[in-house]
Amino acid sequence: MADAPALPFDFAGIHLDPGQGLARQLYRALRERILDGRLPGGVRLPASRDLAQRLGVSRNTVMRAFEQLHAEGYVDGRTGDGTYVGGFASAPKAPRPSAARWPSGAGLARAREHARPPLRSGPPRAFRVGVPAFDLFPFDTWSRLQARFWRKPPPEALGYGDPAGDAQLRELIAAYLRTARGLHCDPAQVVITCGAQQAIGLCAQLLLDPGDRVAVENPGYRAAAHAFTLAGARLCGVALDADGLDTAELARLPDCRLVYLTPSHQYPTGVTLSLARRLELLEWAERSDGWILEDDYDGEYRYDGTPLAPLAALDRQGRVLYVGTFCKIAFPALRLGYLVLPAHLAEVFARRRSADMRHSEVGTQAVMAAFIAEGHFQRHVRRMRQAARARRDALLRGWPQDIAGCAALPPVAAGLHLCVRVESLARERELIAAAESVGVELNGLSEYWLEDGAPAAECRAGLVLGFAAVPEAAIGEALAALRRAWR
Ligand SMILES: Cc1ncc(COP(=O)(O)O)c(C=O)c1O
Repeated sequence: MADAPALPFDFAGIHLDPGQGLARQLYRALRERILDGRLPGGVRLPASRDLAQRLGVSRNTVMRAFEQLHAEGYVDGRTGDGTYVGGFASAPKAPRPSAARWPSGAGLARAREHARPPLRSGPPRAFRVGVPAFDLFPFDTWSRLQARFWRKPPPEALGYGDPAGDAQLRELIAAYLRTARGLHCDPAQVVITCGAQQAIGLCAQLLLDPGDRVAVENPGYRAAAHAFTLAGARLCGVALDADGLDTAELARLPDCRLVYLTPSHQYPTGVTLSLARRLELLEWAERSDGWILEDDYDGEYRYDGTPLAPLAALDRQGRVLYVGTFCKIAFPALRLGYLVLPAHLAEVFARRRSADMRHSEVGTQAVMAAFIAEGHFQRHVRRMRQAARARRDALLRGWPQDIAGCAALPPVAAGLHLCVRVESLARERELIAAAESVGVELNGLSEYWLEDGAPAAECRAGLVLGFAAVPEAAIGEALAALRRAWR
């Protein structure tokens, strides 16, 4: 065989896999070289016959690759004179990873520094925090309602909808809050969101200017704190005591614009904000022209006593924004929650949402509305509460006694998790690592603190345990494993 003619460029890097479309691979390889400037504008490509011979493919393959490049404007064909790379500017070269500079921009920088990695995922395990008993969700009913909606969706539901959310769902939420939480509101005050997190993020975007001070419970829900930091706010951790957030400390913060808190069941310590503190908070908001963001993330789970009315139900000045979610009563991936806003804020919140994402997906909202209207939701809430109580009891009953350096478990009157103190950070780490080695998931209380306003490192230690994620039998097995691991 005669020697292949010398080609003007280096085609050595082009390796075509005979198991896949050859013309497509060749087209991509040439396009990449044209775009990154290795084949500059005006350069003549080798004759199709030479290239085919060099690459060991048929001439037809090369012709098809050239045709595609020609159709997309990467090359020009001149009759009788071969194929030339077009004269456009090549795409900017991608920097080598080592030389890559982070692009400027305050938003990007904040996101890089402060956005948190996603929460733990995978199948639920004992003692994952933030996860309800979604093994009990009535998927048969849900799928029947889904099928009914999608079999014949009302045409008016298929265009652009109200950014505040499905009207029927908002009415049902308002009615539910009236009966279940003693919160009287107009459906026009309700804005549907993609879970509590988006509700918190919207408040951060709309109520804060960069540099504003925001008070958060310390320890507290770090994902909320991150939403405020991403909006450019300055976080101030406020201490808790047996009555909840220390309002005297809040009052001493200069120029605080917003306070975020979980009054019904503080996350993660489990304290309930006392009535006196609730009234002081409302006074603070009025006096300092501040906002109160009330996160009622697990309000459905109350096992003893009558719950206190939400702050929003006591608010006469339009200072409280109330966040609710379906993710703790159904399952987190549903991404469905809501805000109850002071009446004058509802429209602007809806407009802001419209700019972000128009509105939430129509099917989930309509199906949740049917789920509530037909009584499934209320039944499910009762069932979930019972299950969570039984799972709580399994944990309290079976928890190993006398673990060195670990306090006794506290009574648990609400929610899906509990928090127990540990004598030191080293011991916290030890207990968590030993649990992990036998497949049991525990969270360190030390992860929930902000540096600002936190007590000495040794006082931050503890364990946070979610008890609702798995049934009693699995809780029993996890406890047996812990006993072995901690012996
Ligand atoms: C205090 C608190 N608020 C809000 C949420 C998040 O709710 P959602 O899944 O609806 O965003 C959680 C999740 O664990 C939480 O612990």
